[in-house]
Amino acid sequence: MALPEEFLQRLKDANPIEQVVSSYVRMRRSGKNLMGLCPFHGEKTPSFVLYPENDSFYCFGCHVGGDTITFVRRIENLDYMEAVKMLAQRAGLDMPEDTRRNDGTARIKMRILEANREAARWFHRCLIGPEGTDALAYLRGRKLSDGIITRFGLGYAPDSWQGLSNHLRKLGFTDEELVTANLASRGGRGIYDRFRGRVIFPIIDVRGNVTGFSGRAVGDNGPKYLNTAETLVFEKGRGLFALNFAKNAGGQRLLLAEGPMDVIALHQAGFNFAVATQGTALTQQQAQLMTHYAKEVLLCYDADAAGQKASERAIPILRNAGLKVRVITIPEGKDPDEFIRTRGADRFRQLLDGSGNDVEYRLNKIRAKYDPDSADGRVNILREAIELLADLTGELEADVYAGKLAGEFRVEKATLLSQIDQRRRRRQKEDNAKEYRQIVRDTGGSVRDSINPQRSAHIKAARAEEALIAYLMRNPDRAAEVFAALPAEEFTTDFNRNLYIRLQEHLQSHPAGGTVALTVFSEDHSPDEMSRIAEILAKNNANANNRAAERDYIRVIREEHRKMTPQELAQADDETILAQMEALRRKKQ
Ligand code: GTP
Ligand code: MN
Repeated sequence: MALPEEFLQRLKDANPIEQVVSSYVRMRRSGKNLMGLCPFHGEKTPSFVLYPENDSFYCFGCHVGGDTITFVRRIENLDYMEAVKMLAQRAGLDMPEDTRRNDGTARIKMRILEANREAARWFHRCLIGPEGTDALAYLRGRKLSDGIITRFGLGYAPDSWQGLSNHLRKLGFTDEELVTANLASRGGRGIYDRFRGRVIFPIIDVRGNVTGFSGRAVGDNGPKYLNTAETLVFEKGRGLFALNFAKNAGGQRLLLAEGPMDVIALHQAGFNFAVATQGTALTQQQAQLMTHYAKEVLLCYDADAAGQKASERAIPILRNAGLKVRVITIPEGKDPDEFIRTRGADRFRQLLDGSGNDVEYRLNKIRAKYDPDSADGRVNILREAIELLADLTGELEADVYAGKLAGEFRVEKATLLSQIDQRRRRRQKEDNAKEYRQIVRDTGGSVRDSINPQRSAHIKAARAEEALIAYLMRNPDRAAEVFAALPAEEFTTDFNRNLYIRLQEHLQSHPAGGTVALTVFSEDHSPDEMSRIAEILAKNNANANNRAAERDYIRVIREEHRKMTPQELAQADDETILAQMEALRRKKQ
């Protein structure tokens, strides 16, 4: 369903790419453009560039790019129409009348969310009803108040095969919808409930939607925790449990615990900025999500070996996202829930206040690994400590700790600092080399190009085509003449020809006016294709911008096209006809 160009124009004007992207990624100005650390792959040196001039972004590290809509699609994992809606909402624009009707997937997603909401209600009613007596006693036994049980909407899934399914059927949900929502599974004799005989923790996203559930066994049948599997609205490693509450807690910090029980206990004790991952290790996306609400994360995993391992994994992920990290060490092998129950909230607060930052924590682990009374041990401690401090982003931080270590181990602080510096420079070189090799691998080395498969066989033609497209987007006032001089048939590669045709269509109905934004292509191109278009713009960004260059591109495109074999031409002509039919069809709509 095509959106009116006028609407897209207003949408784009109301959502400048710098503003939208800056709410996810810290960007720094660099000339006309902005640079930052790419949110789509892990990196330490920025290769993510914003080009406000044509509303595009491009990462030279992972080759992801596009316009504002593509950015939102990728970072929020939305389809095209959902991303448009989100941007419209952000800017307070109404969607065009005939698009408010929902398309396929959006409708199914809505049904899943409705089913989940009804399920959450039903689970809660079961918990406080007669069937829930034991479950409620269990929760109260774990010292949860009725208030907190209501606040988190906790529930109980009775130990029956079709309790929930029958209830939701009565409300008009089809079996297929229940299976798609992962509330039920299909068995030999129809569907049966996924959650049975479990305490239910609804998982609610920041918009207030119930996206899934976590169910804890009350007895000892089955796994201790059972979660909603991936559905259209619930993706593992994306959301955070209780973020809907914690995001409003203020204070720009979040407490990260292992699971829902810990989080609820923490909230009840007044630590309402606690969140948890959902039974999976912390992901980059989750760290990214936290940066919207916090500058600092207090890691509060279990004191057991598994918890400590998880902490060590999480620290670099959080740091890479630009978050400060502090590790709360809970003594005596307990988790936060148990600690608060046995020692009280005040003692826990003391832990928070006393918690060292992650450097201190990791230095302590290094100290504990070796014997500080032996020369060997001291050397090992210092060697690992230097590695660790070289990894720190802040000079100041490294300086402070080098000072401490110097005093502790009776060595010169300057020696430590110079070794840290050496180590750092070596690492920087390694990183650069790695990134460089990656880029070479992804561009020069690759023979198969799934976006523009003709490119590698017609590299010269393709380069000129791309240069011309980028040129026209920057100089739409030249379009009429260029289109007259060079018909689309003269393009050699289909992908680029389609871009050219789309530009032509656009500029016919919207003659000149600034530069053309990438959004023109957004509706008809997948995120991967958008990455390529952004790449074309980014890589031709510094080209000459004059008539001589223009003539040159046209000349090369013509010459290269004439070089095509008759067979290639025959094929290409079919493609041209198809492309033009497609263009016509679009215009009629
Ligand atoms: P309680 O035992 O009720 O206090 O929960 P807990 O959070 O202390 O559990 P535990 O420390 O054993 O596990 C930490 C987290 O890992 C849990 O909160 C769950 O998110 C997850 N987890 C634990 N057991 C399972 C399991 O059997 N399956 C799945 N999918 N996740 C689990
Ligand atoms: Mn526990």
